[in-house]
Amino acid sequence: MNKDFLCLTDWSRDELEQIFNLTRELKDKQKRGEAHHLLKGKTLAMIFEKSSTRTRVSFEVGMFQLGGHALFLSSSNTQMGRGEPIKDTGRVMSRYVDGIMIRTFSQAAVEELARCSEIPIINGLTDSYHPCQVMADLFTVSEHRDNWRDLTYCWIGDGNNMAHSWINAAAVFGFELRIATPHGYAPDAQIIERAREMGARITLTQRPVEAAEGAHILNTDVWASMGQESEQRERAEAFRDFQINQALLDYAAPDSLVLHCLPAHRDEEITDEVMEGPHSIIFDEAENRLHVQKAIMATLMG
Ligand code: CP
Ligand code: NVA
Repeated sequence: MNKDFLCLTDWSRDELEQIFNLTRELKDKQKRGEAHHLLKGKTLAMIFEKSSTRTRVSFEVGMFQLGGHALFLSSSNTQMGRGEPIKDTGRVMSRYVDGIMIRTFSQAAVEELARCSEIPIINGLTDSYHPCQVMADLFTVSEHRDNWRDLTYCWIGDGNNMAHSWINAAAVFGFELRIATPHGYAPDAQIIERAREMGARITLTQRPVEAAEGAHILNTDVWASMGQESEQRERAEAFRDFQINQALLDYAAPDSLVLHCLPAHRDEEITDEVMEGPHSIIFDEAENRLHVQKAIMATLMG
């Protein structure tokens, strides 16, 4: 088994399904109020170089519920913000804590941290990937649809970190994934190529309707990710026709489900009506960050 959770394609389908099984067990125990202290006495360091609501709270609460402890480190208040090398940080942290969750810009930095640390490293979002989120997304779909492995998934919007992790998920689980992005905002060609080499069934289009036609799952994300704030205006222009709204939903399967990792800009990438409507499983999805990440931490750090 892998030491780290950096990218979905590092893990096999069986291993990820085992994480889903443990998620189910831990979620049931939590709902029943039954103790499940699988990480009693263990500590997780959480390093944040970008903002967060869900990731921070769900990892911290998750560690508490598992009988352990989590500490929040913002890069600006640690020596990392003053240029201490990643390899020194990783070696020192390995002597204090039992695992690190990191949210940062570069995937290469997270990989370097993993290489120089003796403890598990969990990717809490980089510019390239957001694997914990897509695990929560798939788990949520599995709670609503037993045949989740055989559904058609579509991504409407930016070819960003979330889209990349969905591409990886399509490679590992084998479901059909259709991606609609505006010209110039397609996902990374190398990530797509690698996924296709693994057998992924991925279609790319610049027409949202083509992606949504008959699809079972519709999924989107903000048009400007963290770090792209200065591009907000030109992106709003480029993505204008890439909104998940009732008109687009009408093209999808009648019982389609809608995902959004949050935070959302209501009435930009998704309408308020769809977010609050009967197809949305967005808040179950947010809750499941907690349960899935507990299973990931218990698997890596237990
Ligand atoms: N979806 C997600 O990762 O949310 P946060 O940025 O609030 O952590
Ligand atoms: N693509 C978004 C996801 C936020 C959870 C970002 O990187 O800002």
